[in-house]
Amino acid sequence: MEVVILTGFGSLKTAVDAIRLGAADYLLKPFNVAEIISVINRILAKKKQRDQLTDFLNELGNMVGHESTIDEVRHSLTNKPAMVDFLKKFFNQVMEPGASIHSGNHLEFVRVLSETLENKDPFTHGHSSRVNYYSNLLAQKLNLSQTELRDLQVGAYLHDIGKLGVDTKIIYKEGAFTRQELLLMRRHPEIGVDLVTPIGLSQNVVSIIRHHHEFYNGTGYPDGLKGDAIPMLTRIVSTSESFDAMVTDRPYRKALPLKEIVDELKRFANVQFDPYLVQLLLEIIEEKGEDILPKRFQPSRSMTA
Ligand SMILES: [Fe+2]
Repeated sequence: MEVVILTGFGSLKTAVDAIRLGAADYLLKPFNVAEIISVINRILAKKKQRDQLTDFLNELGNMVGHESTIDEVRHSLTNKPAMVDFLKKFFNQVMEPGASIHSGNHLEFVRVLSETLENKDPFTHGHSSRVNYYSNLLAQKLNLSQTELRDLQVGAYLHDIGKLGVDTKIIYKEGAFTRQELLLMRRHPEIGVDLVTPIGLSQNVVSIIRHHHEFYNGTGYPDGLKGDAIPMLTRIVSTSESFDAMVTDRPYRKALPLKEIVDELKRFANVQFDPYLVQLLLEIIEEKGEDILPKRFQPSRSMTA
């Protein structure tokens, strides 16, 4: 169900909060009927596009999820040119040259893709958006080009796309993984690359998808890349992703307090994370304090009554 907030007590902050908590739109009273109808039409058009994409992705995910080797996945994809064309068409809209990083619209499709993925895994709800947000905070401290910024955003949203190819039973599992399940789960970066290769995304985005689980000391996967051999944009996404894992509740533990997160980041600098990015992230935490933590949805009294 899509939700539109109608309020007589509007402010920029309540509008931003409403959208962040999932409202499709926000209207101030007094409103007129024409305005409501145009909002509803716009939301329905968007929903139709999203449903179409969701169906496509589920089909793709099912197909990949039942294949046993990377080669078979690749083979299946090349045998389904209609699927690849469909995806390509959407990506071309997203990646068209000159698309402004500030326009907001070009990321809509990527956002839908990542939301579809997150629907498969209830514990990562909003994960990709937050990884994008933290990556952006880091990027603001680095001298990145417009192209790098755009690739970083797309990569932050799509880094886990390969999870479409991992069996839902494994993703939903609450206890520890068996060795076999862990191996399957760890295939998601390679499956992700296979999914996007036919679309011709930029090398930066492909690297983020393939390498977001590499460790700075070379003990990560799938390639055991070390230090600067891991591309910078990928290091930004993997630092942001781990940070998000610490600030949110997981099936096996609650979110960590900020003080503990700072200790963890310091402990894993040079191990899992690029020490320079840790230093930048610590500066950001210092500047923003508790504001950096994701907002939790607190039902108001009128809603619980
Ligand atoms: Fe991942």
